Amino acid sequence: MHRGPLIAPSLLSADFARLAEEAHRVAGADWLHFDVMDAHFVPNLTFGLPVMQALQEVTPVPLDCHLMIEEPERWAPGYAEAGARNVTVHAEACTGDPRAVARDLRAAGALAGLALKPETSLDHYLDVLQEFDTLLIMTVEPGFGGQDFIAEALPKVRRARELVDSGHLTLFIEVDGGINADTIEQAAEAGADVFVAGSAVYGADDPTRAIAALRAQAGAAMRG
Ligand code: DX5
Ligand code: ZN
Repeated sequence: MHRGPLIAPSLLSADFARLAEEAHRVAGADWLHFDVMDAHFVPNLTFGLPVMQALQEVTPVPLDCHLMIEEPERWAPGYAEAGARNVTVHAEACTGDPRAVARDLRAAGALAGLALKPETSLDHYLDVLQEFDTLLIMTVEPGFGGQDFIAEALPKVRRARELVDSGHLTLFIEVDGGINADTIEQAAEAGADVFVAGSAVYGADDPTRAIAALRAQAGAAMRG
């Protein structure tokens, strides 16, 4: 199965005083990426479930919740129950078997995502990933928008793509961090199919055009 690219603008780069308007500015997006940070798993603090629930009321774009938090087992199901399309937890933050979280997320009607920091090995999680729908490969250290893309994460994207194409895994392969007009083609050629872009979308004069341009670039690179 070959799917088209999904573009997921990250609200981390939006104006937090105007979240509803900022969500409307990216109405052409496939998913809206919602970065939850707890000042423990990462050295930054953003927003949580009440804000996600409020956003759900004002945007038709499916929410893609990226939980950069400790104790994801405790908090992740709430985002699924609130109606998120995809909820991603960090493998490094799980204290038990991440498959238990995946089951809870799917039972609540969401896609289940597992995120790996740039240094985290994919091979360690191959069995676990059987029960996930999304693999988020970080292409920056999690915590902040506007950082430079880490190309060293691309072999992990390639390996994941091989495993999906050979039928060993069934997953969206999402990349997050430093994705922009200069880097999206490399990520797409390596095999990603979901592209998070914060500063590249919200930093553009016209976010709608930026999304369309990124989608076209990714689509051409995926086919090539
Ligand atoms: C970083 C977040 C990203 C961030 C990406 O920890 O997970 O989603 O918003 O921002 P850019 O696209 O600016 O790197
Ligand atoms: Zn993110």
